[in-house]
Amino acid sequence: MSIPKNLAAWLIKPGSPLQVDDAPLPTAGPGELVIKNAAIAINPLDCHMQDSGVFVKEWPAIFGCDIAGEVHEVGKDVERFKKGYRVIGHAINLTSGRPKDGAFTLYTVIPANKAAILPDEISFTDGVVVPFALEAAVCVLSLKEPGFAMPGVNTPALGLPYPSLQEVPSIGKTLVIYGGSSSVGSMTTQLAAATGIHVIAIVGAHNFEFSKRCGAAEVFDRNDASLVDKVTDEVRKNGGDFVGIFDAIGTRETYAHEISILDRLGGGHLASVHPPPPATDLPANVNAGMIFAVNDVAAPVWKDYVTPALQSGKLQCLPAPLVVGKGLEHIQSALDKSKAGVSATKLVVEL
Ligand SMILES: NC(=O)c1ccc[n+]([C@@H]2O[C@H](COP(=O)([O-])OP(=O)(O)OC[C@H]3O[C@@H](n4cnc5c(N)ncnc54)[C@H](OP(=O)(O)O)[C@@H]3O)[C@@H](O)[C@H]2O)c1
Repeated sequence: MSIPKNLAAWLIKPGSPLQVDDAPLPTAGPGELVIKNAAIAINPLDCHMQDSGVFVKEWPAIFGCDIAGEVHEVGKDVERFKKGYRVIGHAINLTSGRPKDGAFTLYTVIPANKAAILPDEISFTDGVVVPFALEAAVCVLSLKEPGFAMPGVNTPALGLPYPSLQEVPSIGKTLVIYGGSSSVGSMTTQLAAATGIHVIAIVGAHNFEFSKRCGAAEVFDRNDASLVDKVTDEVRKNGGDFVGIFDAIGTRETYAHEISILDRLGGGHLASVHPPPPATDLPANVNAGMIFAVNDVAAPVWKDYVTPALQSGKLQCLPAPLVVGKGLEHIQSALDKSKAGVSATKLVVEL
C-alpha cells in the first residue's frame, strides 16, 4: 500500500504569506488520532499567529485549530474511534507548539478527547465550525476553579453545569453574553441555553434572529445608546441569580459598558476572551478573568454531548460556514478575509 503524501500551508516567518509545501505524514501517539482533513475553519487567533508569530514554538510552523475529516490512524489506548470514522476535532498546536498538531495541513494529529463523531447527515463543511468555539464555550461556562491564562491573568471560574441533552428547566441564573453573534459568543449562547441559563445577548441588530436561534432569551443592539440601561433593567426584571458577563469581544468599548452594568448590578463575573481591565478599574465584587480555550474541562462534553446533540439538532453548526475555496492554497485568502472581519459567519476552506 502506498504511503499517502502530506502537504501543509506553512508559516515560514511572522508576517509572511503561507506557503503550501510537502509535510511529513504524522503518526498517532497514545491517546491521539491522525485525521485526514476534509475541511478546516479560520479563527481570528490564526491571524494573530500569522502576523506576530505569537504562540509559535517551532519554525516553520503549521497552525490552525478547527478540523473535520476522517480518522486515518488511531493511537494506542483510544477506544472511541476507528479508522474511517467521520469526526470533528480541536487541533492544539496553540499549546503543544508541534507543527503536526496544526490544522492547516492534509493530515493533523489531535487528542482523541478533543474529537467527536460527526453524524452522517452533517457535512464536514458544516461540522468544522464547531470545535474551537465549543472548547472555548465550555471553558467560559464550566471551569470550577480559576486557572492560569497568562502571566498575571487568571482564567474565570463560573462553575456552571455542562450542557444537557434533555430539555432542562430554568436553573434561575442569568448570563449576559456580549458579542453573541461571534463564533465563540454564539456557541457559548448555545451551551448556556442547553444548561437552562437565561441568556441576554448583545449583538448587531441584524443578528437578533441569529442570536435567538442560538438560544438567547433576550437580545440587545450593540449600537443602542441606552444599551447599559436596557441590559441592566433586563437583568433586574428577570430576577434570579445574576452570574455576570461573558465578553466575546474584549475591547475598550465593551469593557466600559460592562463596568457600568456590573457596577449597577453589584458585581458578578467578567469573563473575557482577552485580558480584562485591571482590578483597580473594576467595581467591587467583580471576578474578572480571561478564558484560555484549551482545557480538559471540555473532555466530557466532547465525549458525551457533541455527537448526540448534533444528531438531535440541540447543537447547531453555527455560525454558518462561508466556503472561501477548496485546497490548502485558499487558506491565505481565508485569513485575509478574516482580518477584514465577519458577521455571524465562520470562514471555511475545504480540502
Ligand atoms: N482567549 C481565548 O482562548 C480565545 C478563544 C477563542 C477566541 N478568542 C478571541 O475571541 C474573539 C472572538 O473570536 P470569534 O472567532 O468568536 O470572532 P468572530 O466570529 O470573528 O467575531 C465576529 C463577530 O464579532 C461581533 N462584534 C464585533 N465587535 C463587536 C462589539 N463591539 N460588540 C458586539 N459584537 C461585536 C460581530 O457582531 P455583529 O456582526 O452582530 O455586529 C461579529 O458577528 C477574537 O478576538 C478571538 O481572538 C479568544
